[in-house]
Amino acid sequence: MAKTLPVVYQTLRNHSHITEYALVQDPTNKPFLEVLSGRRQAVPPIWMMRQAGRYLPEYRELRAKAGGFLDLCFTPEFAAEVTLQPVRRFAFDAAIIFSDILVIPYALGRTVRFEAGEGPRLDPLDTPDKIAALSSEADMTKLEPVFEALRRVKRELDSKTALIGFCGAPWTVATYMIAGQGTPDQAPARMMAYRHPDAFAKVIDAIVDNSIRYLLGQLQAGADALQIFDTWAGVLPPREFEQWSIEPTKRIVAGVRRQVPDAKIIGFPRGAGALLPSYIEATGVDAVSIDWAAEPSLIRDKVQNRVAVQGNLDPLALIAGGAALDRAVDDVLTNFAAGRLIFNLGHGIQPETPIPHVEQMIRRVRGNGLRQ
Ligand code: CP3
Repeated sequence: MAKTLPVVYQTLRNHSHITEYALVQDPTNKPFLEVLSGRRQAVPPIWMMRQAGRYLPEYRELRAKAGGFLDLCFTPEFAAEVTLQPVRRFAFDAAIIFSDILVIPYALGRTVRFEAGEGPRLDPLDTPDKIAALSSEADMTKLEPVFEALRRVKRELDSKTALIGFCGAPWTVATYMIAGQGTPDQAPARMMAYRHPDAFAKVIDAIVDNSIRYLLGQLQAGADALQIFDTWAGVLPPREFEQWSIEPTKRIVAGVRRQVPDAKIIGFPRGAGALLPSYIEATGVDAVSIDWAAEPSLIRDKVQNRVAVQGNLDPLALIAGGAALDRAVDDVLTNFAAGRLIFNLGHGIQPETPIPHVEQMIRRVRGNGLRQ
């Protein structure tokens, strides 16, 4: 578990103008955790959202062996192996445990299936009556394989590489639970929230309470930091963003920190745009992951002055490669590398991404003769 910093450093960390200390760093510290703890790194640590996945031949091979996607997530040996694949190949600064945000609805007793080429399918919670029958307590034994996978990965990682646990933010998880599948604009969940706010709040509350338990279990199993994915935050009007994205995330952060006060937490309210400063202020996250459309000066002046920033290469630039990729990498570094930055994509890597392009991106970020 993350160690507590001496009080003097805590004070420095909380001071909005200080982004870097002139301290000699312990050579065993993990660069990723250093940035989350307020200490900018000269070379930004790097990992990619969805880094374990279909663009890797070794993933596709194991996926075929495991059968279903959930079988892959819930077989610790396989989940640990898939988590480690991108770290071995690219020496990323962080591993993210291989699982999915929809394991929470699954543990709440909902039916969750992943159809090949179609994405997730759940039994829709599309009426207040169905919501009234929703269990408020997840069966945590169903999630035990995720904890076991974390313990296995932890044993394999070297001392420089951090391990990330995660969950979906309540709003984003609820959009799948209500609609039963992904939708272009999350209309079913938005409509449920307008028409039946009390029923909708019950779904959100169940996700909040069980996500806290799930994240605490992940910390206990060896996660060094946590990320909360709010992929669909950007479809909400400001009032609803406050109510359904910020408030539930704030409760998760507070619930986790009640047990683990120095838990490091990254929020990813994708598409939050100008609402990001209020998100960080209210939730108390240590960092935000930003999407590629984020406006750089807003991020620098109102976000990166307070917390670390993770992002934000357009995944399509990574598919394109060549000069367009170099330019896109340089833009991220120019925009954000003067402050606390964890280099990442603005959203998950796509399956058609060529592996040499990932290598090109990493070389450019780490400056192996290509930068300056
Ligand atoms: O980042 C990682 O490598 C860790 C694993 C991870 C997965 N899903 C594996 C996965 C993480 C962090 C997630 C998060 C997730 N899952 C999100 C939030 C982040 C984001 O990308 O927006 C969401 C919205 C989901 C729900 C989900 N899972 C969808 C919509 C889909 C289908 C779309 C798709 O990409 O195929 C999944 C399936 C899924 N989750 C796959 C993987 C590797 C593909 C499944 C396969 O191999 O067939």
